[in-house]
Amino acid sequence: MKISEDFSLGTLMTFELSRKKPVHGWFWYKEGYAPEIVKRAIANDTKKIVDPFCGVGTTLLAAKENRIDSAGVDASPLAVFASKVKTDDYSGKDMELVKKFLAKDTRLEESGGWEFELFDPRAAFPKRNYNQILGLRRAIENEEPRVRNLLLLALLSILPQASIVLKDGGVLKIRKDKRALPAKEIFKRKVKRMIRDLENAPKGHVPDVYLGDARALDIEGDSADLVVTSPPYLNNIDYSKVYGLELSLLEMSRAKAEEARMRAIRSFVGRNMKVGEMPPEVGALGEQIPIIGTYFRDMEQAIAEMHRILKNGKEAHIVVSNSVIHQTHVLVDEIFAEMAKRIGFSGIRIVVGAERIADVKPQKVKTRESIVILRK
Ligand SMILES: C[S@@+](CC[C@H](N)C(=O)[O-])C[C@H]1O[C@@H](n2cnc3c(N)ncnc32)[C@H](O)[C@@H]1O
Repeated sequence: MKISEDFSLGTLMTFELSRKKPVHGWFWYKEGYAPEIVKRAIANDTKKIVDPFCGVGTTLLAAKENRIDSAGVDASPLAVFASKVKTDDYSGKDMELVKKFLAKDTRLEESGGWEFELFDPRAAFPKRNYNQILGLRRAIENEEPRVRNLLLLALLSILPQASIVLKDGGVLKIRKDKRALPAKEIFKRKVKRMIRDLENAPKGHVPDVYLGDARALDIEGDSADLVVTSPPYLNNIDYSKVYGLELSLLEMSRAKAEEARMRAIRSFVGRNMKVGEMPPEVGALGEQIPIIGTYFRDMEQAIAEMHRILKNGKEAHIVVSNSVIHQTHVLVDEIFAEMAKRIGFSGIRIVVGAERIADVKPQKVKTRESIVILRK
């Protein structure tokens, strides 16, 4: 296993650069990376790219921008929705209908029915914003599918700014002193940005995106030329909660969050931990700290699926962060590399893109983010 450093990758491993890019920045997703990560991995003969943890579709949109077919899977309906909307093709007529919706003076009043498992969504917004959001949610539903999707993603994307909620690490905090921006205005601004972005967006190569599980992909074996992905990090964060407000407004259902949680890689505590079936590379760590065992067990299956769907000689690029969990420094990249070797990958390289200091009181630990590159 070869380990090298390329710190020019550091800024590409966060969502920061994507935020300002056309279409990429439509929905803030802290866990995302920049499309340059994908562009660097594309070879001259790449015809199909797969991302089994597609998040908000960075890999898929980068594939489309490079006129390459792609497929993406995610356990979260919110991520799948955002990916689909960002990578779809829109017609001139769709754009006209979106503009017409903005020009309409839609009556916005509370229509009820928004349930969120952690708290009453009313507590998350000033009353006026709450009513506007629910009113828009209802009005959007009457539009044609593509128009509805664009408007709904715009609405979901403004929830953090329109609310008094802070996403603080893995938890949502209601902060009475936070300024909530006026919902209707920022919604309109967002839709206008989307219209502008779509004027120059490429068409064709619309990816195949579906709700599923990276541990059991519904994708043919030996069919992909490249996998570029980043799985959930071993950080104890349950994203079905962090993005729970957005997910519950999308689905207008409480049950969907629980379903997404059950499908997710076990990178957070609190659900069916079965020790005893963990990969040998994890060693005693997995026995001592069950979440480490279950995480690598799940990721072993996901890496085996990447191996199955790739054509011979083709690569998987996995963006990952090492973790400090329960005071224990876990070299996630090296364990992935060792598991991948056993699964049958070769030419294994780890490229370290960034080093970070994890402040795990009382100590500070130097940890890193890297890309694990595997060849079938
Ligand atoms: C680090 S994020 C990926 C971000 C993506 N690279 C982007 O730029 O948007 C990891 C994603 O894995 C998804 N996920 C978790 N468990 C999964 C599973 N078993 N199968 C598929 N996706 C899963 C999460 O919902 C999350 O969107």
